[in-house]
Amino acid sequence: MSPHRLRLGVNVDHVATIRNARGGRHPDPVRAAKLAIVAGADGITAHLREDRRHIRDDDIARLKAEIDKPLNFEMAATDEMVRIALETKPHAVCLVPEKRTERTTEGGLDAVRQHAQLAPVVHTLKHAGIRVSLFIGAQPKQIEAAAELGAPVVELHTGSWCDALTEGREAEAKAEWELIRAGAEMAAGFGLEVHAGHGLDYATAETIAALPQVVELNIGHFLVGESVFEGLAETVKFMRAAMERGRKKARA
Ligand code: PXP
Repeated sequence: MSPHRLRLGVNVDHVATIRNARGGRHPDPVRAAKLAIVAGADGITAHLREDRRHIRDDDIARLKAEIDKPLNFEMAATDEMVRIALETKPHAVCLVPEKRTERTTEGGLDAVRQHAQLAPVVHTLKHAGIRVSLFIGAQPKQIEAAAELGAPVVELHTGSWCDALTEGREAEAKAEWELIRAGAEMAAGFGLEVHAGHGLDYATAETIAALPQVVELNIGHFLVGESVFEGLAETVKFMRAAMERGRKKARA
């Protein structure tokens, strides 16, 4: 079976980070989302953190109201965020771990240990017609636990692989890649839809696009950073082209 076109979810959090550095409204993450969609994004991702350090409540409401592609709402599994998700009714929710002191989402959820906390959240969101994904590391025990939780989607955390590659830790990068490759196969074997994200750039997106089980990549920081040099629309187009080159290898 020929693998589907790989979807690109553009994460606009860091457009909001730049805006918030000065306060005010510029640059507007909703404008960035619309531009990214015109340039080839298949959906928009935004993470409403407990401390509202980048995306704010009204960004989420405006994204939902103003964009014409699926909104993937990233959130921690807290009562407050569940309430906002139920009010907003995004196409999808991606549940992520959140620590106030971290600079970014450092690791995946611990779907094994947090089963009791995650189970009712997955149930409630699914019941409301929202597609739920769990952001996890690709370790087999995490994939098994995610499948047991009944979420239809897992997003595999690519951050450690990307960091190891960037920092030239080759053996570690190889091991991390093998974990992701095998994890994607295992998750698809359980019937889960497989997404991936964190720390991806053109090269790593092209590499992971060759995994036929992966159907969506969520990418933010690199795209926003690269936009400083190339502009957001060009950067999204270059990313789509990199993903398509990788996807061709999956079809070969
Ligand atoms: N996927 C998830 C679940 C994330 O938490 C993040 C970071 O917000 C991303 C993807 C995107 O990561 P990056 O900004 O490094 O591309």
